[in-house]
Amino acid sequence: MTKRIHFIGGGQMSEAIIRAVLTNNTVNKSDITVSDVIAERNSYLSETYGVTTSELQSAMLSAADIIVIGVRPQDDLETISKAINTHSTVDAVVVSIVAGVTLKKFEALLGEGRPIVRVIPNTLTDTGLGYSGVALNHLANQEQVDFFLRGFGKVMYVDEQLIDSFTGFGVAGPNYVYYFIESLADAGVLAGFSRKQAWDIVLENVAGAVEMLQTSGKYPRQLLDINNSAGGVGIHALHELNSSDFAAGLQRAVLAAVQRTTALGDE
Ligand SMILES: NC(=O)c1ccc[n+]([C@@H]2O[C@H](COP(=O)([O-])OP(=O)(O)OC[C@H]3O[C@@H](n4cnc5c(N)ncnc54)[C@H](OP(=O)(O)O)[C@@H]3O)[C@@H](O)[C@H]2O)c1
Repeated sequence: MTKRIHFIGGGQMSEAIIRAVLTNNTVNKSDITVSDVIAERNSYLSETYGVTTSELQSAMLSAADIIVIGVRPQDDLETISKAINTHSTVDAVVVSIVAGVTLKKFEALLGEGRPIVRVIPNTLTDTGLGYSGVALNHLANQEQVDFFLRGFGKVMYVDEQLIDSFTGFGVAGPNYVYYFIESLADAGVLAGFSRKQAWDIVLENVAGAVEMLQTSGKYPRQLLDINNSAGGVGIHALHELNSSDFAAGLQRAVLAAVQRTTALGDE
């Protein structure tokens, strides 16, 4: 049976999700409706993706099986919740991608009699890779939303207490990798390669290293032992990295991102 998905808020993240679920044929465009407060945004989404949009959403809410709240934490969640409660059926599942707003807060806004799912979407939606972090309230279950969530990446169900960590570690994860790749490409330029040569080598090595870890089933330490011969090139490079703040700096960065996520949620 096809499910109808309604998006409240048609911003960057809602658009990325819509693009991915349409590309992956997870949902038909005729089953997607969007209501943004900005008329131009609605026109853009309907023209670009063929989905139905309108600033007036009562009929869309009534028809929806899944309602995605895709607005900013500072937006008027109270009015949005009233609209949901007024127009939608009680078994429609509310999926929130609003950063920092807890299931408890949504239960206070929507009442406790409705399935609510809190999702921290990953930012790799166009690749099909990357985990979204998902927490369910007591009335929600995986079967209600799994097909939809898998339309924009992989899905990891976690206790809500891990959601901030998921944001700072998992969803912010590509940023650490981008920064590592940039730093390593700079090292190649420093060592005499053109930017293009350095870039090609780094991308191939990063993709190959991930492939190697996945296909061999070995841990990085085991592959490092294989690659680093006694007194050789690799162990000299590792010694230099060990003398720097590399690992601890990265770990502090992740913890700072987790703490900042929590602080934003408390504001
Ligand atoms: N972008 C990302 O990579 C990313 C990743 C993970 C999670 N998130 C989370 O996803 C949420 C949305 O982020 P975003 O980047 O997509 O934000 P965004 O581009 O600002 O989109 C939000 C949209 O919703 C509209 N809106 C506000 N109140 C509304 C209402 N009552 N009814 C209908 N539409 C309304 C906004 O209009 P106005 O501009 O006029 O307010 C805006 O067009 C945030 O909580 C964010 O933290 C984003």
